[in-house]
Amino acid sequence: MISSEGLTVEFDDLTALRDLSLEVDDGGFVTVIGPSGCGKTTLLRTLGGLEEPTEGSVSVGGASPAAARRDGRVGFVFQDHALLPWKTALENVTFLRRMAGKPADETGAREVLATVGLEKFVDARPATLSGGMKQRVAIARAIHLGADVLLMDEPFGELDELTREEMSVEICRIWRNYRKTVVFVTHSIPEAVLLGDRCLGLHGPPAEIAWERSIDLPRPRDRGVFESAAFQEQVAAVRRLFHGER
Ligand SMILES: Nc1ncnc2c1ncn2[C@@H]1O[C@H](COP(=O)(O)OP(=O)(O)O)[C@@H](O)[C@H]1O
Ligand SMILES: [Mg+2]
Repeated sequence: MISSEGLTVEFDDLTALRDLSLEVDDGGFVTVIGPSGCGKTTLLRTLGGLEEPTEGSVSVGGASPAAARRDGRVGFVFQDHALLPWKTALENVTFLRRMAGKPADETGAREVLATVGLEKFVDARPATLSGGMKQRVAIARAIHLGADVLLMDEPFGELDELTREEMSVEICRIWRNYRKTVVFVTHSIPEAVLLGDRCLGLHGPPAEIAWERSIDLPRPRDRGVFESAAFQEQVAAVRRLFHGER
């Protein structure tokens, strides 16, 4: 479980988070939406131990986020996939796990790459892969790391709309297979609804939780969900919350 209480993060002359409390159950999927600059990235970075809170606390499965990250229990997927350009897809996937001091497992790495549809591209370097494929490598890398918590910061923000839809359906499937605990930042309302058990709206800075809604849609959620009336209703409801209507 991820649990944060009274989180405040101050930069030099700006309070980015204020008194923010949040809990995510094991295996839960929380999506976070909010306007640009409201503090979403700072929240994720703080949950993952990349940013030290000025006040308040975070626990990731009972440990400090820094310790959880050191042990490879937290994986990040950023908008910019952050792959090493000189390494192949397979090497990118295995490298991070090695850095976390976990035993090498090349068979496992190949399996994860196959799961994200890249079995034919294990030896490809990032420059030869499309944007969606690079993000698949970044996701495979976080899963192979063995992280039980995935923090995803607008991972599909740079992708075209169709690839983006395809990738979010893919994430639903991966999450079903691997049962990770996920906090997923997006500025797409349909994406937030498709993926989340729960959707949080932030406003700020300082980032505060403006509203929260559970997304009551059956799982598994696949491509067909986009056309369902229930999905459209949830999207409309979240959009009203986002615009401050009830
Ligand atoms: N390291 C930093 N130092 C100073 N200000 C920062 C730093 N990181 C983020 N900020 C500021 O904090 C606010 C929230 O930023 P961020 O968390 O990146 O928002 P979001 O991800 O929602 O766009 C912004 O005003 C941003 O300029
Ligand atoms: Mg951001």
